[in-house]
Amino acid sequence: MAYNLLKGKKGIIFGALNDQSIAWKVAEKAHEEGAEFILSNAPAALRMGDIQTLADKCDSIVVPADATNLDDLQAVFETAMERFGGKIDFILHSIGMSPNVRKGIPYDQLNYANFLKTLDISALSLHKMLQVARNLDVLNTWGSVVSLTYVASQRTLVGYGDMADAKALLESVTRSFGYIYGRDKKVRINTVSQSPTMTTAGSGIKGMGSLLDFSERMSPLGNATAEECANFCITLFSDLTRKITMQNIFHDGGFSSMGMSARAMDRYEQGVVFED
Ligand SMILES: NC(=O)c1ccc[n+]([C@@H]2O[C@H](COP(=O)([O-])OP(=O)(O)OC[C@H]3O[C@@H](n4cnc5c(N)ncnc54)[C@H](O)[C@@H]3O)[C@@H](O)[C@H]2O)c1
Repeated sequence: MAYNLLKGKKGIIFGALNDQSIAWKVAEKAHEEGAEFILSNAPAALRMGDIQTLADKCDSIVVPADATNLDDLQAVFETAMERFGGKIDFILHSIGMSPNVRKGIPYDQLNYANFLKTLDISALSLHKMLQVARNLDVLNTWGSVVSLTYVASQRTLVGYGDMADAKALLESVTRSFGYIYGRDKKVRINTVSQSPTMTTAGSGIKGMGSLLDFSERMSPLGNATAEECANFCITLFSDLTRKITMQNIFHDGGFSSMGMSARAMDRYEQGVVFED
């Protein structure tokens, strides 16, 4: 059911690759809720994915941009302002990639060139986006920027590698820039800390199947799906959440507040031989 929550709002959605992507679901929901937006992804991703199908469905266009490249980002923002005849109201940053995780390189053997790429793509890209947006004065007052993160930024989860460090930085950028952009322009910036989700990025994490099962058992409400995440992002873009900024908001069925659950205990006890 649509509520017209984003009627009249314009935005940019970064990171839709295929119909599993969280950004893809956000685009579908934003369209249903009356928003107009442009889509952007890295040039290589545009060749791999199916983003044009999404653009056709949402009366949108696709503007290629490597989110680590300031000129590319500037071009995306300028295209948006031109298309919409003025400023925009929301930005979704749904971007993450670690060459170390992708290549299965363990955290205590990191390749540092890869590590810098992880940080640049997954965290600095948000800073770059915000800096370019602010310099061009792209966002309307009470605009909203949302980025996706994961609880491994705050608690150690095996297999997440240097993405954990990138997410910690992403959440810090959200606070630091959230202060400046909020103070000067009333723009709000938040991260949504989402349950593990079977997407292209998600499936790159070693042991993802076990992680999904574990967090499903630990979360009283169960894992949040990509579609549920999209619904939440829409509320953060809407005018109903104007005073929320600089926050990391868990959208994880309660996982982050749990220590042990009956369902996880059941599974654990099945395979345990207790010693005297
Ligand atoms: N899937 C999960 O379990 C999960 C959980 C919590 C948070 N997240 C986060 O959600 C976000 C979206 O990931 P997803 O799970 O939808 O997977 P996804 O693979 O569909 O999306 C990741 C996107 O990042 C884009 N990207 C990578 N490098 C880029 C670059 N240089 N410039 C521009 N775009 C680039 C990819 O092309 C892709 O579209 C990521 O930040 C991810 O870390 C995912």
